[in-house]
Amino acid sequence: MDKFVIKGGRRLTGEVVISGAKNAAVAILPAVILSDEPCVIENVPSISDVNICLRILSEMGAEVTNIGKDTYRIDPTTINKFCVPYETARKMRASYYFLGALLGKFSKARVSMPGGCPLGDRPIDQHLKAFAAMGANYTLSQGMIDLTAEKLSGCQIFFDVVTVGATMNAMLAAVKAEGLTVIENAAKEPHIVDLANFLNSMGANIMGAGTDVIKIRGVEHLHGATYAVIPDQIEAGTFMAAVAATKGDVIIKNVIPKHLESITKKMEKIGVNIEQYDDSIHVWVDGPLVKANVKTAPHPGFPTDMQSQIATLLTLAEGTSIVTENIWEQRFRYVDELRRMGADITVNGKVALIEGTGKLMGAPVKACDLRAGAALIIAGLAASGVTEIEDIYHIERGYDCMEGKLRALGADIEKVSVPDKHSMKPDEVKKAI
Ligand code: EPU
Repeated sequence: MDKFVIKGGRRLTGEVVISGAKNAAVAILPAVILSDEPCVIENVPSISDVNICLRILSEMGAEVTNIGKDTYRIDPTTINKFCVPYETARKMRASYYFLGALLGKFSKARVSMPGGCPLGDRPIDQHLKAFAAMGANYTLSQGMIDLTAEKLSGCQIFFDVVTVGATMNAMLAAVKAEGLTVIENAAKEPHIVDLANFLNSMGANIMGAGTDVIKIRGVEHLHGATYAVIPDQIEAGTFMAAVAATKGDVIIKNVIPKHLESITKKMEKIGVNIEQYDDSIHVWVDGPLVKANVKTAPHPGFPTDMQSQIATLLTLAEGTSIVTENIWEQRFRYVDELRRMGADITVNGKVALIEGTGKLMGAPVKACDLRAGAALIIAGLAASGVTEIEDIYHIERGYDCMEGKLRALGADIEKVSVPDKHSMKPDEVKKAI
């Protein structure tokens, strides 16, 4: 068990380089299964969700080789297993992309029901609806999803909700299906476009990704490709919030400013200065932070994955802010931890009322999910005194070397190993507490 120990109150200054996008990488890596030749994937973030994807691929028989910093060569031609077992799948939400990729390539898949962050009810009915519309049969038993199809055929899919996962999964299953698939009410996130670009670079025929209607004409073969994953917009946004919270001055490199638009606009409203260049942004604060109202929404709206970080920033701003979470019902679980640090936040259903107190105090806290963990890091950096964050494995699922990058910007943050009390003998436990 590791924890982060942060001595707060230091301004972040300097330059930081953003890694590849988690939510693109966890779809692009399974998508390699669809290729009839090896692929090289660059700008792959070094995070535990990606490690799990790579492990699943290699357990299926693919040859996975790390050929350079953040670059992997994956040969899917040796795959001989079509199952993602419970032990691996439960650790990661995105294991569901193996359903679409295996179904699209081999017309069969067996994947455990996915795990991931505890954000409330996370149904996959829309994924299954899309597979069924293409001609697949599915059964759910003993926590496993089994998919089989004699043949996958193009079809019309209208999603009842805007869903990132089901849109990507439908694309994966449809690229080799016979005929035309039309996905309506599709999600428009940058990672949807990135997956489509990767599939097209292998010879797929996908049009309209990034709009709410995606058209996919099935092809028989996909060939190998070399492809670089887009930069992580949420990692960039998290650094923007951390810089603002410490009244710092940082150049954030390897970003696509267009992908950050909703975050940039909101930060500017709060009083953060942002200058955009081709593939970097300059973020600094030289005045007071002020209240703002934030409502999360599917892209191009404000991303739910930035909600906890911006809410933390608003605890440091002047005035009363309102934050409304419209995607995940349990995404305010970090609020109790922030209150331990002196934040004044009241949650009522999907709305949080934040009275900006302008200051936070260090405290021992626990990360309850990935973005909650990011919010606590921001709080710890801005707080007076020492903050200790437990359960940082959540943070390491999605942030590539967070503490190293923050230290390089001047933060006082250390990763400390704590003996796991459950695996200790009683007298060792006594010594440790
Ligand atoms: N939904 C359904 N049925 C479905 C699928 C989704 O009702 O079959 C609902 C969900 O309950 C939710 C809404 O639709 O209310 C949106 O869910 P979506 O499918 O878009 O989410 P996801 O694919 O499970 C991805 C990201 C999340 C991010 C959301 C929203 C990955 C691996 N995960 O989840 O990322 O919050 O999209 O943008 O791409 C994170 O990175 O911290 C994270 C949780």
